[in-house]
Amino acid sequence: MAINFCKESNIFKLDTYSSTYIFGIFEGNYLVHYYYGAPIPDTDVSALWLRPWFASFCPDSPSARIPNFSPDVTPLEYSTFGAGDFRLSAFAVENSEGNKVTDLRYISHKIYDGKKSLPGLPSLYTNEDSEAQTLEILTEDKVTGVKATLIYTVFEKKGAITRSVKVENPTEKPFYIDTIHSLCVDLPGYDYDMLGLYGRWVKERSLDRYPLHHGIQSIKSKRGSSSHNHNPFTALVSKNATEDYGDCYGFNLVYSSNFSIDVEVDGFASSRLVMGINPEGFKWLLNPGEEFYSPEAVMIYTNKGIGEMSRMFHRLYSDNLVRGKWKKAKRPLLINNWEGTGMSFDHDKLVSFAHHAKDMGIEMLVMDDGWFGKRDDDKSSLGDWFVADYKLKYGLSGLIKEVNALGLKFGIWFEPEMISPDSEIYRAHPDWCLHTEGRDKSIARTQYVIDYSRKEVRDHIYSMMYKILSENNIDYVKWDFNRNLTEVSCAELPKERQGEVFHRFVLGTYEIMDRLTRDFPHLLLENCSGGGGRFDPGMLYYSPQIWTSDNTDPIERLTIQFGTSLCYPASTMGAHVSASRRASYETKKNVALWGSFGYELDPDKLTEEEKAEIKEQVKEYHKYYDVIHYGELYRLITPFENEFKVAWEFVSEDKKEALVTVVNMRQPYDSLFFLKLKALDPEKIYEIEETGEEYSGAYLMNAGLNLTHKPNGDGASYLIHLLAK
Ligand code: DGJ
Repeated sequence: MAINFCKESNIFKLDTYSSTYIFGIFEGNYLVHYYYGAPIPDTDVSALWLRPWFASFCPDSPSARIPNFSPDVTPLEYSTFGAGDFRLSAFAVENSEGNKVTDLRYISHKIYDGKKSLPGLPSLYTNEDSEAQTLEILTEDKVTGVKATLIYTVFEKKGAITRSVKVENPTEKPFYIDTIHSLCVDLPGYDYDMLGLYGRWVKERSLDRYPLHHGIQSIKSKRGSSSHNHNPFTALVSKNATEDYGDCYGFNLVYSSNFSIDVEVDGFASSRLVMGINPEGFKWLLNPGEEFYSPEAVMIYTNKGIGEMSRMFHRLYSDNLVRGKWKKAKRPLLINNWEGTGMSFDHDKLVSFAHHAKDMGIEMLVMDDGWFGKRDDDKSSLGDWFVADYKLKYGLSGLIKEVNALGLKFGIWFEPEMISPDSEIYRAHPDWCLHTEGRDKSIARTQYVIDYSRKEVRDHIYSMMYKILSENNIDYVKWDFNRNLTEVSCAELPKERQGEVFHRFVLGTYEIMDRLTRDFPHLLLENCSGGGGRFDPGMLYYSPQIWTSDNTDPIERLTIQFGTSLCYPASTMGAHVSASRRASYETKKNVALWGSFGYELDPDKLTEEEKAEIKEQVKEYHKYYDVIHYGELYRLITPFENEFKVAWEFVSEDKKEALVTVVNMRQPYDSLFFLKLKALDPEKIYEIEETGEEYSGAYLMNAGLNLTHKPNGDGASYLIHLLAK
C-alpha cells in the first residue's frame, strides 16, 4: 500500500520506491509535518516535530496550550494566515467579517485506489487504478466553517506525489479565497541549493542554482502565462548534489498562468516551500454551496542526483500526463514554413514546399501564421479565422488536397486567444478583448488578448476553428500565444469578481483545448508561445509537444534544451533544423534530434548538396527515434558547467543501445577529452557503429571514450552510436 494511516501514532505515511512522506494528526487536530526524504520504515516519528521557540514571540495554539508547540515554529502540513504561524501562508480566506484569520484543522480522511481528475484543470492521471492511491484529508476552519480538502495522490512506482486543494463553502455567507497554494512543504535545515529555470524570449529555461538564505526567495509569474521568464519548476537539492549524486526535491506546478513559488528560511533554520497560484492579482469569491480547486502540484524526491530527478519527471509525464493518440506514437517528421517565408507565401509556394518535402522524406507540411483574414504582417487579422483566398487560390481544401496527394499530412497555425485591432472581429466586438474601463489598452505585437473568461467569446472563436478543422483534412495544429496579459478586467463580471479574471482566463483556454482535443482526437497539437513561453505541465496535458524556443540557432539551443530537460521529456520539446543561423546542417541536426524533430526553412533555397544531406538526416531521424523518444536521458556535460563543450546520451531501456551527442560550443583551451558514458550494462560489450571499436560497458563508463582527436572546432558536433553485441 502506498498510503497508510497508522492509528497508534496518528500518522499518514505516503511511500514511493524512492521516498517517504509523513505527516500526522497532532493535538488540537493540527496537521503536523514530520518527514519527507528517502524511504524509512518507521511509524513512530514523533521525535521529528520538536523545534526551538521563544514563548513570548511564538504564540501558543489559540485553542488550548500544547506543551512545546507553537504554530509559528512547528512544521505544519498546510499553513494558514493569522492564527500564530508567521511564516509563509499556504492558505488564507477573507471571511464575511473582512478579516483573513484562517485556521484549518483535521476533520476526517479517506483513502482510495486511483486518482480523480480536477474539474476544469489539467492534472496527472492513472492508466489503471492500481498505479496510484489517493488520500483526501478534510480540514475545517471552525469559526468560519470554511472547508478545505488536501488531496494527495501517490504514484508509488514513479517516486511522485501530486497535491491539490479543494475549498468548499458550506456556510450561508460568502468569503474570498485570498491565497491558495497547492502544496506546502516544511523541511528541517536550509542546507540546500534552489534550482530555477529562468530566461526570456529566445533564451528560455537557463538553469539557475543558488544557496538558500534566510528570508524569502521566490520564482513567480504574473504575466497571465507561465512565461519565458520563469518556469513553474524548482528543486531543492543538497549542496553537493550533482547529476548523479545527492538529495533532490523537485516541484512542478501543472498550471499555465500566474504562479508563485516561495521558499522561506526562518530564524530557526527551517525551510518552508509553498507553490501555487500567485496570490498577487488573485481573489476568488466563493458563494455558499460553491467549491474551488487549486491547480495540481507535483513533488518528486530522489537521493540519486539531479539527473535521476529529471528522468523521474520524464517517466511520470510520458506515462501519466501526456495523453491521446500521440502520447507514445511516432510523431510525423514536419517542415514548417515560418522561418522560410514568414507570412509571404501563397498556394504555389506551399505546394513547392510540399514537393521538396516529399522528395526529402519529410512527412507533414505545417502552414504557419499568415493564411487567414488579410494577414500580410503582424498588424492585422488575428481573430478572423477564415482563409485568405487571395493567398490560397484554391482555398484551404485545394491546398490540402495537393499536399495530401503527395502523401504528406497537413498542419495549420492558430493564435486563438488573440485579436488584432485591425480585424473584422474586433470592429464588430471591440469589447471582446481584455481591457479596464477608463484606461488605455497596452498593445504588444499590434495585438490584444481576447477575454477568454467569457464563454460566448471563446465559443465564437472556437466555432471558427471548428469550421476550419471539420471541413478540412488537418492532422496538426500549432496553438500560439504571442503576448502577455495586461489591463486584466472582465467587462461581464461584477467588481467583487475582478480578482478572478487571470484564473478564469486560463480555465477558458483549458476548456477550449479540451474541446479541441475531444472533437478532433486524431490531431497532433503543438503548443507554442513565441517559442517556449508556456512550456509547462498544464499545456502538456493537452499537447504532447511544445515549440521549445523561437531560437533555432543550435548553439543557443543548447542551454534551452538542457534547461528544459530538467523536468520535461525529449518527446515534448519541438526542435527544428533551420537555415539562417551559424553552424553546419550537421550540428543543427544533431541538436534538433534531441526533441520532436523537424525542419523550419525554405527548401527552394537549399542547394542540391544540402537537399542530399537532409535526405540522409531523415534516415538518421528514423534510425535514432526510438532510443531518443523511448530511452532515458543522461546529461554528460552541461552548458551550465562547461563553456566549451556539451554532451548528452540516450540509453534504451534494455541498455542494448545508446546514442551520445557531443557539441563543441567553442574551441577548448586544451584538446584532451575523455568522455565517460553512463547507465550502460558493465557486462555487455558495445560496438561503436562508426568505427567498429568494441568496449565493455565497464570500460566505457570507467575509462571513458578517448575523443581527443574528434573534431573540436567552433560548432563542430558528432554522434556516437553504440550497440550491444
Ligand atoms: C511565434 C512562434 O514561436 C513562431 O514559431 C511563429 O509561429 C510565429 N509566432 C508566427 O507569428
